[in-house]
Amino acid sequence: VALSIPVILGTVREGRHSEHLARYVHGRLNARTGMESAFVDPRDHDFGNLKGRVIDLPDLDPQAPPPGVPVTDGLRRFIHQMHAADGFVIVTPEYNYSFPGTLKNLLDVTLKPWRRKPFGLVACGGISGGLRCIDSLRQVVSGLGGVTVPAHVPVANVQRTFGPGGPLADPEDWRRRVDGFLDEVVWYAEALRAARAGPVPA
Ligand SMILES: Cc1cc2nc3c(=O)[nH]c(=O)nc-3n(C[C@H](O)[C@H](O)[C@H](O)COP(=O)(O)O)c2cc1C
Repeated sequence: VALSIPVILGTVREGRHSEHLARYVHGRLNARTGMESAFVDPRDHDFGNLKGRVIDLPDLDPQAPPPGVPVTDGLRRFIHQMHAADGFVIVTPEYNYSFPGTLKNLLDVTLKPWRRKPFGLVACGGISGGLRCIDSLRQVVSGLGGVTVPAHVPVANVQRTFGPGGPLADPEDWRRRVDGFLDEVVWYAEALRAARAGPVPA
């Protein structure tokens, strides 16, 4: 069975540069054999501001829609996709020393799909390359019951380093760096998938 590791983009901002980085990482992931990576664009769904409650799979039973929460087909698909995933790669810009609120809404909309799965973190920002945002995401991932992969990719000044076609310079260096990071994410995804198939603590 192919490994499923969606790439989640962290922002809906008009003119977002991080999308170029995210598409590049997504391309490198899908270039692997035995890999099935979806691209999750937060523009595609209304994650709301938790106007309702956390949506989890039992609530998605069409016989019992949760009261007051508009569970669109798109949101339903998203939650199923996250459940089916073996791990996640988040690619996000740093906004004011942290990650965008959009990303927090996306992660908060459902609880169970993230548990015991690895998260690989890629961030971009100014000179710091979004490192503060990576650190704050590690705390959030713990809250979700996921585990963060130690390897990470900070990208400084993304406007000047990535365009719609990928890296604007040093493509070999970027490929090595991103592929090395993805090797780690895939290793954890395979290890945890095997472990989840066995007994897990209650
Ligand atoms: C509201 C806002 C806040 C930002 N705050 C930071 C920050 O704290 N640290 C940083 O390195 N870059 C910051 N930036 C720059 C973005 O991280 C940078 O433009 C990023 O690489 C690309 O973001 P984009 O996908 O929205 O274009 C900020 C940008 C915006 C729009």
